[in-house]
Amino acid sequence: MSLTPDSANPNARPAGSSRPLTPGTIATQFSKMDFPAPTGLRLNVAKSPTSPSPSPGAGAAPDSALSAGSNDTGDLSGPEPEAIVEARRRFRSESMSEQLSATLATMNLPQPERIFGPNEGESPAAREGDKGVSAEDWDKIKLDDDVPEAVKEPVRMTHSRNASKAEPTRVRSPLIPEQKHLVLEHHAAKEQKITPFDVEGAVDEEGKDLGIDYDKLVARFGAQKISQDLLDRFEKVTGHRPHPLLRRGTFFSHRDFNIILDRYEKGQPFYLYTGRGPSSDSMHMGHLIPFMFTAWLQRVFNVPLVIQITDDEKYLLQRDVKKQADMMKKIKGKKPLDLLRHYKQMAQDNIKDIIACGFMLEKTYIFQDLGAMGGAFYDNVVLMSKTLTASNIKGVFGFSDSDNVGMFHFASIQATPSFSNSFPHIFGQRDDIPALIPCAIDQDPYFLLTRDSADKLGYKKPCLLHSKFLPALQGSNTKMSASNENSAVFMTDDAKKIHKKIRSHAFSGGGATQEDHRANGGNPDIDVPYQFLSFFEDDDEKMRRLAEEYRAGTLSTVQMKDECIAKLQEVVAEFQKRRSEVTDEVVQQFQDPTRKIDPRPAKKAEAATAATSAA
Ligand code: TYM
Repeated sequence: MSLTPDSANPNARPAGSSRPLTPGTIATQFSKMDFPAPTGLRLNVAKSPTSPSPSPGAGAAPDSALSAGSNDTGDLSGPEPEAIVEARRRFRSESMSEQLSATLATMNLPQPERIFGPNEGESPAAREGDKGVSAEDWDKIKLDDDVPEAVKEPVRMTHSRNASKAEPTRVRSPLIPEQKHLVLEHHAAKEQKITPFDVEGAVDEEGKDLGIDYDKLVARFGAQKISQDLLDRFEKVTGHRPHPLLRRGTFFSHRDFNIILDRYEKGQPFYLYTGRGPSSDSMHMGHLIPFMFTAWLQRVFNVPLVIQITDDEKYLLQRDVKKQADMMKKIKGKKPLDLLRHYKQMAQDNIKDIIACGFMLEKTYIFQDLGAMGGAFYDNVVLMSKTLTASNIKGVFGFSDSDNVGMFHFASIQATPSFSNSFPHIFGQRDDIPALIPCAIDQDPYFLLTRDSADKLGYKKPCLLHSKFLPALQGSNTKMSASNENSAVFMTDDAKKIHKKIRSHAFSGGGATQEDHRANGGNPDIDVPYQFLSFFEDDDEKMRRLAEEYRAGTLSTVQMKDECIAKLQEVVAEFQKRRSEVTDEVVQQFQDPTRKIDPRPAKKAEAATAATSAA
């Protein structure tokens, strides 16, 4: 494996040499090594028709019985079960990774940014000029942290998914107690499955839903929980009380958010990136969570934001053939192109929804993959796709050989907006500006891959803030989803429909009968109306009171539902009003790739004013 397209340097020096290594030297040294595949990325073992479903922890560590043994099973009587072969293969490969890491750690390797990245004081942007802001102005923004942390404090190179900086661990006691996940007390007969395509909580032996265990997810994805110290630091650095979604633990985990706060403190540039895959004409209330939050963050930080609309993704990744056939019927389509066009149209409708969340026009660029792919963006898609193998993708997303190749490739496309030079009209050719990505935790696997590849490409790793899911009406074992109409409250629903959905379908944590409820109280932790309220009600005191009275049985299930209905009706009505003001012209402005967007970090005082007006 070579790290660079350069031809090998005949003057290559051995590892440990004090002379700096050139990319050619490194390529030569690496090409002599037997690299295993980066199995640390595996979250899921791809299913085969003959293998049992793997447990979610399967990718993290080999089975202890297997790990203790060698290749020799001592039993030659027949073929081994596929799951055992797979686990053994993974263990072998992981231990090779470890050895490799140890070898690499002893080598005097420059960090990837030193191989491919800009030279200090002379970035490609500085040499070739920017398009977004005058080269002179842009070049004035010097980055103090040009030297990556890993160079300052050499660390062992591994395929670790963990955040690169140690972080304080003071545990947060949320203002409103977080949902208690029953899963912790039960043995799961079916483990939870969280991917960008499926969100299913664990189920016990009796078929009872156990909810989503977010702590387990964080540990498995190798992210970090948002601690009270981090929130305190956010408040200190920005001068803003954390958003209710942060202080209540809805945004509960992160990757390197502390790096973003460092940069904000030093006045160094960064940007926000988030996205939507248009699968329905209208977004639902769950989608609102990352977008509302991102709009708030943009005002707090006063930084550029790019929003990717993955119309290509939703065409490629709908694995339910019947759903697309029904869609085709509905639009009276004749050929696949008609369907693709329909996704583009849904994207336009969704962009209006997104704009209604209140983004800053002068700092926001929204683009649809099917319309905007090309130029510098496509350069990065190509670079990214070369860092990924089919086995990476199968391991992370659970795809199989019968899935279409577009699905395999799509990860490169969702990764690409994480790299600043994908947007020359904003950042010129600067590739050293990191992105902060707010999203629900289901999207993390894409960015786990992206962060790994960023190192290989000499780009900055994106940082992330993860949210929990707004639950489906039926309960917390899955997320509200546009592909299941009955699970969701859509932003187009009128007051009557919202009333009906909540009253008739929202799962209640109340007692079985009124008497039972009055005697024993209800459980707000599993009560969907209360959960919905906790996402949209700003008033902490009110939330505390509702929970208390519900537990005491003095607040009935109908009263809780009515509180929820009133709040959702208010949020949706306000949204619909703003949405009605979003014209096609405004949509075009947000999507204009020739529009200049100033990438420079705003002064703290300006950001504070913008945020106050947003609050
Ligand atoms: P999509 O369209 O499925 O979802 C858009 C955003 O909404 C989040 N989300 C939810 N959040 C809370 N509760 C829910 N019930 C819920 N359902 C969805 C998603 O996590 C996402 O943040 N592949 C992506 C599009 C995309 C993207 C991105 C998303 C492209 N680039 C960067 C986030 C960040 C998708 O199909 O999202």
